Amino acid sequence: MSVTIHQVMNTSPVMPVMVINQIEQAVPLARALVEGGLKVLEITLRTPVALECIRRIKGEVPDAIVGAGTIINTQTLRQAIDAGAQFVVSPGLTPSLLDAGLGCGVPLLPGVITPSEVMRLLEKGITAMKFFPAEAAGGIPMLKSIGGPLPQVTFCPTGGVNPKNAPEYLALSNVACVGGSWMAPADLVDAGDWAEITRRAAGAAALKK
Ligand code: 3PG
Repeated sequence: MSVTIHQVMNTSPVMPVMVINQIEQAVPLARALVEGGLKVLEITLRTPVALECIRRIKGEVPDAIVGAGTIINTQTLRQAIDAGAQFVVSPGLTPSLLDAGLGCGVPLLPGVITPSEVMRLLEKGITAMKFFPAEAAGGIPMLKSIGGPLPQVTFCPTGGVNPKNAPEYLALSNVACVGGSWMAPADLVDAGDWAEITRRAAGAAALKK
């Protein structure tokens, strides 16, 4: 099933940003998040098993919409697409990655911080962007300020977003969803505490956009 970047951003208020260390964790973790109501999953390419995790989740968790994060060059873009990623997320953007991303047939969520970066993407017709690293880069006041002159952009703030500040981000008119890792932190994943992960996912899924 192919999706648009706006479907990716509007399916759930929170996009789990997942770091998976063991292949065997991938499917139960994805199932736990989907059961809690979070269908859109970003698997970061930060571990050697990440691409195989994407393949397994794609094959075994049909209700999930599986994306790849940490796309930092054309090589990782190609690997993610070959593994079956339905969307791709980058922490920032280079001209070559932008060109490849626009032609790859899979929705791209590129990372930005500044108005100039936003404007460069607008010139290419991109209106959905990741605001990363959200808290370190000015957080809610920064997004409000960018929304003044550039209201046509929709953001997914990620980095330092947590259950406390997520509602305030989600209340912004230029935020569609937030990204975060609090639903599936390493300690819960390593412990196989899928029930707690489902509970956290349900709490995140219930946040209002
Ligand atoms: C990351 O850098 O891992 C993601 O942006 C998630 O950040 P978080 O752990 O602060 O939610």
